[in-house]
Amino acid sequence: MSHLHQLVLAVAVATFMAMPASASQYLNTEFEFTDVMPESGDVLVLLVPEGQAELALDDWSQATREHVARARGAAGFTGQANDHMELLAPVDLAFDRLILTGIGPVGGTPRHQAEEVGAALSQRLNAMDADAIVVSSSLLGEGSTEAGLTAYVAHGMDLRNYRFDRFKSDPSPRPSQTFVWHSENPQGAEEGYRLLRALAEGVFTARELTNLPGRTGYPEAFANHAREVLEPLGVEVTILGPEDVRAMGMGSLYSVSQGSDMKAHLLVAHWTGGTGDPIALVGKGNSFDTGGYNLKTDAASILRMHTDKAGGAAVVGAIQALAGQEAPVNVVGVVPLSINMISGDASLPGDVVTAGDGSTIEIGNTDAEGRLILADGIWYAREHLNARVILNIATLTGAKVGALGTAYSAIFTRDERLERTLRTAGELTGERVWPMPLDGYEGITRSRIADQINTGSPGAQAGAIFLEHFAGDTPWVHIDIAGDAFVAGSQGIHPEGSTGHGVRLMTEWVRALE
Ligand code: BES
Ligand code: MN
Ligand code: ZN
Repeated sequence: MSHLHQLVLAVAVATFMAMPASASQYLNTEFEFTDVMPESGDVLVLLVPEGQAELALDDWSQATREHVARARGAAGFTGQANDHMELLAPVDLAFDRLILTGIGPVGGTPRHQAEEVGAALSQRLNAMDADAIVVSSSLLGEGSTEAGLTAYVAHGMDLRNYRFDRFKSDPSPRPSQTFVWHSENPQGAEEGYRLLRALAEGVFTARELTNLPGRTGYPEAFANHAREVLEPLGVEVTILGPEDVRAMGMGSLYSVSQGSDMKAHLLVAHWTGGTGDPIALVGKGNSFDTGGYNLKTDAASILRMHTDKAGGAAVVGAIQALAGQEAPVNVVGVVPLSINMISGDASLPGDVVTAGDGSTIEIGNTDAEGRLILADGIWYAREHLNARVILNIATLTGAKVGALGTAYSAIFTRDERLERTLRTAGELTGERVWPMPLDGYEGITRSRIADQINTGSPGAQAGAIFLEHFAGDTPWVHIDIAGDAFVAGSQGIHPEGSTGHGVRLMTEWVRALE
């Protein structure tokens, strides 16, 4: 090889290593994975498994070892998950600080716990004036579980670093750091991280869409935002406008926004990474929920109702993640988009609408709008996309919050496999689900004047049973994420505001199902 060729190759390799794993509008941090320990930096972080006897890297001097051992004894550091200890000016090391971060038992630390360790660590690092950060997971060993843990820690950092600052005149700068991940298995860690980076980008999109105020994230704007994010990844995006929605008979979807100038849309986003009939993800995209003529009268709860598009936002995020990962799956996202507002044209309580499948619905309460738009979204996935499985996800009922709080999302399904795979994906990602019953509520959505009514008691079950009708014979599961889409203050991997809840759950679930 000529010298020139060698040089070009060297430059190419160096450029690749220095690049962030993918360009992001949300993150400024750069990650590099290597088995070569850098000599110096601002901060050295050591990830420590629980029960580790000696806390030292191979090339450390005796003096460093003694310094760390004494400090460890003084701090009572054990390596439990989130155990933390810091040394300034560690003897014989060319780093200003040494941070020891407990990771819990290797092999026994769940993924979401490792992500939370990363989130907490990133908060500490952001609070310091540190640019060049080395994280060594050398003590974890070289297996794939260990490489995975490293990637989850890095992913937790990314997730925590999102922020919604598009309306700040003077946003505080995003953390801008260079991370070198020193590992016994840098390839494994990097491969894991690249998939998780794509997942994080999907979570960011879901958070962004959910955080948008009602009038900013109105149906058409939501659809266009999704298109801009998805098309460059090779996702086929189709947007049906209000006239299409009406012409195709989706009167139930149409009715929710008929009182607004911001009319109904239907977003269809198809990632064809695999063959066969698609898995359909149908998400409630209600840009704002005033309640309609059944107006929401509690000031605090109506204020949060821009998050009523969280299910739809999570579907967009999951499709983005799967496409970004180039997942070998055939999956289609369907987002019925509406805004539930009042005017001289708005639906009245007691009005009757006709859904895409030809069935009629009495609007017992204009505030039960989510099931009205999902009815047509689910039907569209079955009738026009030939879905083999339909999952729908929605901030559907206050009753769900009463039953489960926010520790679990509610799932409703008759399909044992769907229940089992969702529970597994929930345990893995920390977006946990709990099954609720569909049986035993005969007549719950019976209307005196139409085929169904959109109200009933108990509330979460009434919503689910109403929706089940539109899935027909297609295997179907409904996830009620009411309350899960927003945190008032930052929490673990979530900065304050929208959580993007459901993206990680659905992405893992789709991959596991296929
Ligand atoms: N978007 C709400 C549900 C909701 C409540 C989401 C709290 C997040 C937090 C939904 O459209 C709604 O208003 N549901 C009503 C239905 C009722 C009128 C039948 C409810 O649950 O009270
Ligand atoms: Mn409502
Ligand atoms: Zn709603």
